[in-house]
Amino acid sequence: MSDPTSSATQFNAHADKYAASEVHRSGASLPVLLDFAAPGPNDDALDVATGTGNTALALAPHVARVTGLDLAEGMLEHARARASAEGQRNATFVVGSAEALPFPDASFTLVTSRHAPHHFHDLGRFLAEAHRVLTPGGRLVVADQISPTPELQPWIDMYQRRRDPSHVQQRTVAAWRDLAEGAGLRWAVQTVVPYRLDFAWWTAQSGTSLDAVQELRDSVATLTPAEQAAIGAEFGADGHLLAHVDQMMVVRLEKPAAGA
Ligand SMILES: C[S@@+](CC[C@H](N)C(=O)[O-])C[C@H]1O[C@@H](n2cnc3c(N)ncnc32)[C@H](O)[C@@H]1O
Repeated sequence: MSDPTSSATQFNAHADKYAASEVHRSGASLPVLLDFAAPGPNDDALDVATGTGNTALALAPHVARVTGLDLAEGMLEHARARASAEGQRNATFVVGSAEALPFPDASFTLVTSRHAPHHFHDLGRFLAEAHRVLTPGGRLVVADQISPTPELQPWIDMYQRRRDPSHVQQRTVAAWRDLAEGAGLRWAVQTVVPYRLDFAWWTAQSGTSLDAVQELRDSVATLTPAEQAAIGAEFGADGHLLAHVDQMMVVRLEKPAAGA
């Protein structure tokens, strides 16, 4: 039996919905990520956990080459079909793990990862791998959901995992920064982009069971008003949960140039 906590299991099962998701295709973190990445014609780019290729295919028209990597072959099939339909010939898609990138040292000038690192089992390992495959002076641009405070993180991780068993950890910005600097990356520029997520859409997207949907509703009801405000919980007139807000951190990290 397949492991429900594995990202490959989860995302292969729901690849069609992700391919059609406007939140992923064109959500507000994408233009910010592109702005921070400043992709150019000399860039050889790698998009880690590319899913259905939204970020890789947004980079493709600006760079020499882009490689999209993901654990889930079912997601990559959508990425390849879209690249072909759009006539983007400089984009290739390979199966692989963020924590063991199958590329030699200093292979890429730009690495990106969007809406995915909260699924990585070893974020420190991914950051070390991104540092290794980047050329000196290269940049890593990440967009990922964060927890507003360390105190709320255990609840948020429980909430996210009950909705999608492949969720691992949604860290604070400070925790991200410690790990990134520990991997030798310079924290260059950062912002936070709010994502209002409709509860019915959000749970349907990951195939959450009806029992789990009810548990999620009950769990939000147990939070204090301040905690509900911190996660942007919105309720209808009948008290039903309508939506919450994920805070998406977008950050550009830089590998110091040789001799710097
Ligand atoms: C929300 S989707 C990707 C979104 C995509 N980056 C975008 O911009 O639309 C998350 C992806 O992360 C992938 N993933 C999770 N853990 C991974 C890992 N350790 N290595 C590679 N891919 C991983 C999943 O298979 C899934 O396709």
